[in-house]
Amino acid sequence: MSENSTKTIRESARGLDFSQDLLAKGWYHSFEFPDGAVIDGYMPLAVQKERYARYPIPDDLRGKRVLDIGAWDGWFSFETERHGAQTIAIDCVEIPSFLQVHRRLGSKVDYRVLDFYELPAAGLGKFDVVLFLGVLYHLRHPLLALEIVCGLTTDVAIVESFVIDAETWREHQGAIPTLEFYETFELGNQYDNWSGLTVACLLAMCRAAGFARVELMYAGGNYAGVACYRKWEAAPAQPASAPPELLFVSNGRTPGNSFSSRKSEEYLECVFRSPTDREVSPQDLRLEVSGFGTRAIYVQRREDGSWAASFRLPPALDPGWYPVRLRFAETGFSNELRIAVDLPAERPDQLTVKDVCDGKSWERGQVSIAGGGFVSFWLSGLPENRSALDMRVLLGDIPLQITWIGSTESSGYSQINAKVPPDLAKGAHDFQIRFAGVSSQPQVVRVL
Ligand SMILES: C[S@@+](CC[C@H](N)C(=O)[O-])C[C@H]1O[C@@H](n2cnc3c(N)ncnc32)[C@H](O)[C@@H]1O
Repeated sequence: MSENSTKTIRESARGLDFSQDLLAKGWYHSFEFPDGAVIDGYMPLAVQKERYARYPIPDDLRGKRVLDIGAWDGWFSFETERHGAQTIAIDCVEIPSFLQVHRRLGSKVDYRVLDFYELPAAGLGKFDVVLFLGVLYHLRHPLLALEIVCGLTTDVAIVESFVIDAETWREHQGAIPTLEFYETFELGNQYDNWSGLTVACLLAMCRAAGFARVELMYAGGNYAGVACYRKWEAAPAQPASAPPELLFVSNGRTPGNSFSSRKSEEYLECVFRSPTDREVSPQDLRLEVSGFGTRAIYVQRREDGSWAASFRLPPALDPGWYPVRLRFAETGFSNELRIAVDLPAERPDQLTVKDVCDGKSWERGQVSIAGGGFVSFWLSGLPENRSALDMRVLLGDIPLQITWIGSTESSGYSQINAKVPPDLAKGAHDFQIRFAGVSSQPQVVRVL
């Protein structure tokens, strides 16, 4: 296909070029001032008010911090300020009309010229409410963008975006969500329009970004609006049954209770017991990490009748210890366990290993590799913050894959399991643990 025919097809796929109308009006937003003066922008005032009225944000925003991303002329920033908020507005270019209204209103909105991707490092703090209106499709990395928005939000983010099936999304609910990618001018004849999502894709990406609850507010014309909440709905005042018991929380990729906020994917693997003999689906589960809800990806029953479920670590947590608790939709919360985020490993004084055994037969001092072996042992001296990334389990000079790092038992020891490769030479090997630069005394383990 020639470049020209590609161009024609692409251009005809999506029109929506409003640049001439905008030029004629001069302003994108409309305004009415306290003295009765009016600015009649491309977007009618009634439409702006209607959009704002749909947002599930308090009428009284006093004491609340609001971030308006991609504020343009700033009507939404000034409106939240009018409702009492302490508002920060950002845009990637300085918009003179914003500054004009700012002066005219005597506004205290804090206006920053920042690119969206500069936000995480800008040190602006977190916000009760984030307005992310009409910006998503301008960004090259939409899922990362939603994750950044999630990390900046403590209560609710309002995400409005161009979508490709606002009028027809109900007809293909359940289909795989779709994202159209626009390399150049396909959408609106603008080269900074990068993607067009289906409504289902917008909702799925908001969920995948880390929001606990994602609710479609409206879809129509070419737009959809979504309310994205960081917290679960309130637990029922009268729970239907007792809460689950949270038995264990581990990092699903690198065993231990230690997590990194810098990794793109960290999963909390939770083991819990239900007080009733019931089936459990991901939709039943409400995990909370320091008040932020996170959705279950899967849940399965274990052989001993307990359940294991996986959840994504909420984005943009600061370094520290965080409480983790779980409830079913119809119960109160479980006991709390805790995880460490971005905390460096503490150096143990001494590491002591006992009861090294075959992880299947529990025979001491040996491990069988027939059919895939693994070794179990108990270790004392570990700090509370522990990660397989800081630990080496050595059989001879071969590092074993650590599959489990338990919590400290009443004996002061923690159980650790590791896989033994099937091609390991049979016979006696030195067995030794290293953690954060400290090594245990080697002891002999026979590979059978
Ligand atoms: C369609 S307007 C939306 C205006 C307003 N939020 C609304 O919904 O009425 C998009 C705004 O996002 C801004 N924008 C686009 N890309 C951006 C980026 N990378 N970082 C910050 N702002 C951006 C544009 O300058 C513009 O003000």
